[in-house]
Amino acid sequence: MTRVFSGVKPTGHLTLGNYLGAMRRWPRWISTGRTHCSVWSTCMTVEHDPARVRRLSRQAATLLLAMGLDPERCTVFVQSQVDEHARLAYLMECTASDGEMRRMIQYKEKAASEAARGRGVRLSLLTYPALMAADILAYGTHEVPVGEDQAQHLELTRDLAVRFNQRYGPTFVVPKATHPEVAARVMDLQRPTSKMGKSERGSTAGIVYVLDEPEVVRRKVMRAVTDTHSDVVYDREARPGVANLLDVLAACVGGEPERLAVEYGSYGALKRDVGEAVVELLRPVRGRHAELAADPAYVDGVLVAGAERARVMARGRVDAAYRAVGLMSRG
Ligand code: TYM
Repeated sequence: MTRVFSGVKPTGHLTLGNYLGAMRRWPRWISTGRTHCSVWSTCMTVEHDPARVRRLSRQAATLLLAMGLDPERCTVFVQSQVDEHARLAYLMECTASDGEMRRMIQYKEKAASEAARGRGVRLSLLTYPALMAADILAYGTHEVPVGEDQAQHLELTRDLAVRFNQRYGPTFVVPKATHPEVAARVMDLQRPTSKMGKSERGSTAGIVYVLDEPEVVRRKVMRAVTDTHSDVVYDREARPGVANLLDVLAACVGGEPERLAVEYGSYGALKRDVGEAVVELLRPVRGRHAELAADPAYVDGVLVAGAERARVMARGRVDAAYRAVGLMSRG
């Protein structure tokens, strides 16, 4: 059985990028009988507000269930409730090198952004990929459905698994990343050469949030930055704004962005259809989220049971890794 694992961070409200790039694919594995764990990583690598993290963690959990993750058939839990992640992260830090961590693009970008705001860079920002590797390796994961921005972290995870196995004997499955065919990197609607991130710093006009009202979604899409051409052509390099809209449309309605382009004679018509397609795609998720949000005790119960199951699933492998490196383990 293929084991699938993925996660999100509660650093902001979840976006259309999170949904199309990764989360939307998660429920699919359940119907094929494969196990699926889902976690959201603690998000303290940059300055954070505890109350906000608490709120966003619950909202992310509720959204995962609203998207169709069935807690009877997969494990939905919060990373901070399962100690095995932190235990294994330490072994991953002892397997990785400082140079490897410093080469991570996300580290470089986030460290630069913290420095630009006059803030110190937390050590956990540098070691974050070791924690992410631990998340994945603890469960004997085969496949990790993520967006393109996580490809480098996944390569590092593979390297660490191989290195650990070579040094200490076969312990970990070497996982692989899977990306969607389209919309593996959804771009900001106002800055189409930058990834659509969760960040609520500055303007959010280019970010579609999964829980945005339909009117807000339509308005953001209608105001998306394009270019001065008038014909609709798919060209990621030369015309990133239009290409992004076509990618989103293809992800929502199916088909290839290049082919969809020929159906449009103007940007206005394209934007209208993209707006409607996104609203329709997100409608059931918003509806189900509203129902679940009214029953926080149910969501909490799912998380308690999920953490219990996750602990049982991870513990044997993490204990084995401790024994393999020569440390006395609990088991
Ligand atoms: P996070 O919360 O930044 O993103 C969650 C998922 O959404 C994808 N994604 C995107 N896909 C397409 N276009 C975008 N604009 C876009 N923005 C985000 C991300 O690739 C990701 O799949 N490190 C992870 C969380 C994590 C994790 C894990 C993932 C922690 N442990 C173990 C997989 C396995 C992260 O920062 O997610």
